Amino acid sequence: MNDSPPFFDAMMECLKHEQAKSPRASVAPEVLDQFYNEAAKASAPPAPPQPAAPEIPSAPEKPIEKSPAFAPIPKPVFQRHQQITPCPLNELSLDELRLMTLTCRNCELHQRRNNVVFGEGNPQAKLMFIGEGPGMDEDEQGRPFVGAAGQLLTKMINAMQFSREEVYIANIVKCRPPNNRVPLPDEANACLPYLERQIEVIQPEVIVLLGATPLQYILGLTGIMRRRGQWGEYKGIKVMPAYHPAFLLRRPEAKRDVWSDLQEVMKLFGKTYRR
Ligand code: URA
Repeated sequence: MNDSPPFFDAMMECLKHEQAKSPRASVAPEVLDQFYNEAAKASAPPAPPQPAAPEIPSAPEKPIEKSPAFAPIPKPVFQRHQQITPCPLNELSLDELRLMTLTCRNCELHQRRNNVVFGEGNPQAKLMFIGEGPGMDEDEQGRPFVGAAGQLLTKMINAMQFSREEVYIANIVKCRPPNNRVPLPDEANACLPYLERQIEVIQPEVIVLLGATPLQYILGLTGIMRRRGQWGEYKGIKVMPAYHPAFLLRRPEAKRDVWSDLQEVMKLFGKTYRR
């Protein structure tokens, strides 16, 4: 026989339904509050029967004791966790990770963002590009490298005989730093776990680092001028540091260097430059 109150049955059905949809589905806090309040009431002892009122009340010799019916409700049998800890990132798919970043407030950059720029491309990409952080156009559109530097990056990708859809493009930070300044270490470090998980899921064969900021946070190195064109390694993945396309827009003469670095990457994929 099932003695549980109908509310619990309904709640259990609701929880089972949510879990069937996704093992990690969360339940709205208001629903949980209602659940725990109901649990608290249900676990309170039943009120004892009230004695019949005497016909002629006599003056009480001592103060009337509080009826146990008004005793404080005992602690609920179901203890609610104070804080619902998020799932560890290393269990999340790309889609789940993206959803998580949409509500991220791990650093100050969330305050001014119009959009989180998660990254985009082929989730099974062999080649991945990592830039610094979204600029104004990227913040407006929620997509990486769509402004002037992005158009140049697209040309670089095509010159390597890849399409934008074939590769994956992300940044060190997913929210725009004010006035396009370099992300602060706190901001970069707060955002890095998301990028690390993206790399872990995508498992590219090669990562191209665009400029000094990804060089610093992915390889832990400074000096893009002297490091560009030299293969590095990140968790067993080959890494090629190269100039950032925004730098190439300011210094077109550096395109020769970047092209030589990108050709190293092409060789690794068995692609040769055809004029
Ligand atoms: N610069 C970057 O580093 N990333 C972008 O997404 C756009 C410009």
